[in-house]
Amino acid sequence: TTSFADDAAAIEALKVEKNAVVLAHNYQTPEIFHGVADIVGDSLALALAREARAVEADVLLLAGVHFMAETAKLLNPEATVLVPDLEAGCSLAESITAADVRALKAAHPGLPVVTYVNTSAAVKAESDICCTSGNAVKVLQHITQDWGVRSAIMIPDEYLAANMSAIAGIEVVTHPGRCEVHERFTPKDIADIREGHPGVVVVAHPECAPEVVAAADFAGSTAQMQSYVEQERPARLALITECSMSDNLAANNPEVQMIRPCNLCPHMKRNTLAKIRRSLETMTHEITVDADVADRARRAIDRMLEIG
Ligand code: 13P
Ligand code: SF4
Repeated sequence: TTSFADDAAAIEALKVEKNAVVLAHNYQTPEIFHGVADIVGDSLALALAREARAVEADVLLLAGVHFMAETAKLLNPEATVLVPDLEAGCSLAESITAADVRALKAAHPGLPVVTYVNTSAAVKAESDICCTSGNAVKVLQHITQDWGVRSAIMIPDEYLAANMSAIAGIEVVTHPGRCEVHERFTPKDIADIREGHPGVVVVAHPECAPEVVAAADFAGSTAQMQSYVEQERPARLALITECSMSDNLAANNPEVQMIRPCNLCPHMKRNTLAKIRRSLETMTHEITVDADVADRARRAIDRMLEIG
């Protein structure tokens, strides 16, 4: 067995040797997030690989889940995109297939399809526009104002669809997908936290049920959670989301007292320093997307990016 320090040193050397960058989602463990990542962020920052485009690396190693690596590949077709563990999926992405989207479109002719980035490229390819939790309201407002639509198909997260369409004031048809991490939080969890920790500020992810979001003080993507904390500087904070978010935020905000209710994402947690090292050493597992699917999926992502 090797130590974390050995793995971290080996990863740093491999990054130079292969001209590779490590992108890590906010739900990666601190030794990945603070230890070896070059670029960190929410799905918008990572899956859309904005910074990855700028760094012009030959190799992008995505420490996150499969759909994020696929999206990085769509936007950086020249780069070799690697994941440390091919089994790192997502309950939302797995809840829906391209055939399901075609069936929804046939049942609701004329409605545009707004698809959360937490989906396969094949599902994105059947969609009109993508969104993330960070820009979903903006995307819904855009299609209302610029496309003149009054209702849309918004997939695959029924909770995100309910939370965001209520803010944007648009009717949506959705799909019964849920994040297996966020669906487990209840309003009682928040009531118990408030009772036990007077003055606590509660921040929830919009993949939580609407009644959980209603019980929180603020809801937003993981990057929006971070900005909220940096601006508001709450003395006591509870993040209703995946466990590593609190760990990573606590490291940069030692004065904030973190109450830590959390659920682990088993997919995000498949990534380890040892697997990242092996991935760069062996150049596995490479993510590719069929050309036909890639062209159509990229169109939906580019429409989202054009909104800014
Ligand atoms: P964001 O980081 O975009 O908020 O997404 C959360 C999530 O669950 C990603 O899988
Ligand atoms: Fe998917 Fe939820 Fe895990 Fe994110 S936290 S990868 S949405 S299961």
